[in-house]
Amino acid sequence: MDETRFQLTRGDAVAWLRTLPDESIDLVVTDPPYESLEKHRAIGTTTRLKHSKASSNDWFEIFPNDRFAELFVEIYRVMKRNSHFYLFCDPETMFVAKPVAEAAGFKFWKPLIWNKQRIGMGYHYRAMYECILFFEKGKRKLHDLGISDIIEQPRINGGYPAEKPPQVASVLIGQSTEPGALVIDPFMGSGSTGVAAVGLGRNFMGNDLCEEAMLITRQRLLEAGAKESLGAPEATPHSQLGLQM
Ligand SMILES: C[S@@+](CC[C@H](N)C(=O)[O-])C[C@H]1O[C@@H](n2cnc3c(N)ncnc32)[C@H](O)[C@@H]1O
Repeated sequence: MDETRFQLTRGDAVAWLRTLPDESIDLVVTDPPYESLEKHRAIGTTTRLKHSKASSNDWFEIFPNDRFAELFVEIYRVMKRNSHFYLFCDPETMFVAKPVAEAAGFKFWKPLIWNKQRIGMGYHYRAMYECILFFEKGKRKLHDLGISDIIEQPRINGGYPAEKPPQVASVLIGQSTEPGALVIDPFMGSGSTGVAAVGLGRNFMGNDLCEEAMLITRQRLLEAGAKESLGAPEATPHSQLGLQM
C-alpha cells in the first residue's frame, strides 16, 4: 500500500476551502464550534469553556450560524461527485444547519447518533449523545449496509476542547471512502478525523484557526506513521465534468 500523507493549514475554514479545486475531495468529516456553545457558556453548564491556565487556547472562537451558507457552498463545490459529508452537530444546531446544507445542494439522509456512553453536563437532561448529520452529493452507496445509525464510543474527558474519539470518524471514513482517498476536515481541532483517516490508509488535509491545533494534529499524525506534505489535490478533469472546453 502507498504511504499515507497529510497536509495541515492554519486559517479560516471557508477561506481555506476556497483555495481547493472543484470536485477534488473524496470525503468531508468536520466538527465546527457552534454558536449554541455561547448559550451553554452563558449559563455556565460547561466549565471547560472558561479560561484554562494549562492552555494557550482559552477556548476557540465560535463559528456563527449565519456563516453556514458560505461554508456549505464551498464544501459542496470541493467534494467529488457521488461523495458523502458528515457534520458533527449538537441537537439544537441541527435544525439550523440542515436546510442551509440542502440549499447548497446536499441530500440529507439522517442524523446519526454518537452515543457517548457516559453522562455529560446540562440542566435540561444531561447530555449523553451528539448528532452527526449525514449528507450526500450525487449518489454513493455505503460499504456495509449492516451498520447501525447509533455509534457507540465513550467520550474523551480532559482532552482538546470538544475532542472526538477517532473511532467515531473511522466508522464514517470506512463506510464512505476507498483506501488512498482524500479526506478533509476544515475545523480539525486535535486532528481526530486525520488520525482515523491515516489509520485506514486514507490521506488527510486539515485546517484550523488555532496554532495549538496544528501542533497537536501534526504530532498525532506523525506518530500514526503518516508523512507530511501532500501535493495539491487534483480537480476532476473537465472532460469528466461534462464541460465544454
Ligand atoms: C469543536 S473543535 C474540533 C474538535 C475536533 N473534532 C477534535 O476532535 O479535536 C472546533 C475547532 O474549530 C476551530 N475554529 C474555530 N473557528 C474556525 C474558523 N473560522 N475556521 C477554522 N477553524 C476554526 C477551533 O480552533 C477548534 O479547534
